[in-house]
Amino acid sequence: MSVDLRTRVDSEQAPVEAGPFFRETLPALLDARRALIAPGASELPLADFCIETDGEPWTLAWHEDRVSVKAGQRGEGRVRLTVEQLSDIVNDQSTPIALMSNKLLDMPEGGLPDFLNWWLVLRAALDGRRIHARGDVTFTDEPRRSFRPEDSDEDMRAFVEEAGYLHIRGLFSEAEMEALEADFPKAAPHFEKGNPKAWFATTQDGVERLVRMEGFERYSEATVDLIDDDRFRRIGSIPGIGHAQIRKPGTRVSALTKPIGVVKGISDVPWHKDCSLGRHSYECCSLTVGISVTGADAHSGQLRVVPGTHRALVWPAPCVQPGLDLAPVELPTRVGDVTVHLSCTLHMSQPPVSRTRKVLYTGFGQRAADAEAADANRQRLQAVRSKTHTSVSQEPGYLGD
Ligand SMILES: [Fe+2]
Repeated sequence: MSVDLRTRVDSEQAPVEAGPFFRETLPALLDARRALIAPGASELPLADFCIETDGEPWTLAWHEDRVSVKAGQRGEGRVRLTVEQLSDIVNDQSTPIALMSNKLLDMPEGGLPDFLNWWLVLRAALDGRRIHARGDVTFTDEPRRSFRPEDSDEDMRAFVEEAGYLHIRGLFSEAEMEALEADFPKAAPHFEKGNPKAWFATTQDGVERLVRMEGFERYSEATVDLIDDDRFRRIGSIPGIGHAQIRKPGTRVSALTKPIGVVKGISDVPWHKDCSLGRHSYECCSLTVGISVTGADAHSGQLRVVPGTHRALVWPAPCVQPGLDLAPVELPTRVGDVTVHLSCTLHMSQPPVSRTRKVLYTGFGQRAADAEAADANRQRLQAVRSKTHTSVSQEPGYLGD
């Protein structure tokens, strides 16, 4: 069971025209992939839904075991898209979540859940992926387990393929983590307000705090030593599909401080897949690694994941899909532990309530077949990502299940 889920290459995408797409391309795909769509779709509340592209309305309707596509507007849900937005969604460069995060979601009737339910149908038709239906994802072992560094790569690989995450205890020493923590205040003056690599959040006392330093490794030699160390590089080889440290210098590591009581800005991201803004079929699964500079638990900003969701076509954000038959697990960590999650595994960080937390995030990716075309599209998406930290926030202790 490989975790390489890529099915598309950036240089091979064609622009989409609404008329021919809704009249011919989509109906043919919906028909051809009915077996992938029907079981999951029959568990979703799919009311008639209109996609209006530059003023041209087409309505999707669910009829017990198949979807029809008809010209005109019917039903109670409607999204208005530009032809470029439609093209990006069809080509999996963008998603309803990306539109919402960038405040571009234009829905005169209905809401995000309606669009997300139909987006699952579109993805199944366009990508040939089965919509998740209850009972599809099963586990041979308990989906909550921790590893030690001396455990074998084979055991870890089998677990990450099935569950979508790893927790490795004590990969690094307390002394190594103390050295990293000492670099936080040294790096902070390089991340002033207005720097796009600096994220700020305001706490209940009205104080604006630096919560994320992107490219932290530029100011922390201890961080560079750690991520170039064989103990760390080993993590990329565990899935066995050629993951590498593909992040560019100056963007390799983010250092996060999670204060208590954030009221504005984002410090703790609600439930999401890392591909929730798009590009799943070009890049998944990449690996995100969290290094626990300080420990974390239910009171101090721990990570939570929903095991098996990398194998399920479900809502990619902003909450666990209503009715999902897969359950979240908590990943409390001690100083020097690492967590690894696949980009397609649903995860969230729990807002701290009694202690702050420090953690480094970095990761491994798969090399794109056409690096230049991939870079160009990533940069377009980055414009969305750079705005998300000012547009989403959670209450302290919020779980969002
Ligand atoms: Fe994430």
